[in-house]
Amino acid sequence: MKGLTAAFLVWTLLSLEGGSSQAWPTHTACKDGGLEVLYQSCDPLQDFGFSVDQCSRHLKSNLSIRFGMILREDIKELFLDVSLFSEGLSILSYSYPICEEDLPKFSFCGRKRGEQIYYAGPVNNPGFDIPKGEYQVLLKLYNKNNPMVACANATVICS
Ligand SMILES: *[C@@H]1O[C@H](CO)[C@@H](O)[C@H](O)[C@H]1NC(C)=O
Ligand SMILES: *[C@@H]1O[C@H](CO)[C@@H](O)[C@H](O)[C@H]1NC(C)=O
Repeated sequence: MKGLTAAFLVWTLLSLEGGSSQAWPTHTACKDGGLEVLYQSCDPLQDFGFSVDQCSRHLKSNLSIRFGMILREDIKELFLDVSLFSEGLSILSYSYPICEEDLPKFSFCGRKRGEQIYYAGPVNNPGFDIPKGEYQVLLKLYNKNNPMVACANATVICS
């Protein structure tokens, strides 16, 4: 399973050169334990690889993720905006600093535009049970001056 995931990430990184204006393919970030997470890049310029190691609707704290992309911008500072929707209604939206100049939370903080990053490790998330249902999630990564670093829309199906 882990080998497959790594192969998928490499494949994703190798197929970034598309550059077309068509929609990027839908990828499966995880599918197991009553939870399915599908995502699609909404950055017109590139796709990226992402997967979650432990897939379960009983979300553990400190989930391990894998993430690979080529940086469009420097990420000395990096912020994540998350918006959660259910049946078209916004139910949650928040911003989260990932890299700050004085507080680089991850090893990739400070990398430069054009570099390829690959992260495999924990994210400091709370553990909780995902209520049954289907959710849409919009994720945007951007740096201090606001240019987009990555963008994804995801569908979370919890049964
Ligand atoms: C992403 O958004 C597009 C456009 O709204 C939608 O067609 C697609 O199904 C979404 N993909 C996922 C994985 O949610
Ligand atoms: C999360 O994992 C990191 C690294 O494995 C560890 O240092 C940290 O204590 C963990 N946090 C929690 C809440 O388990």
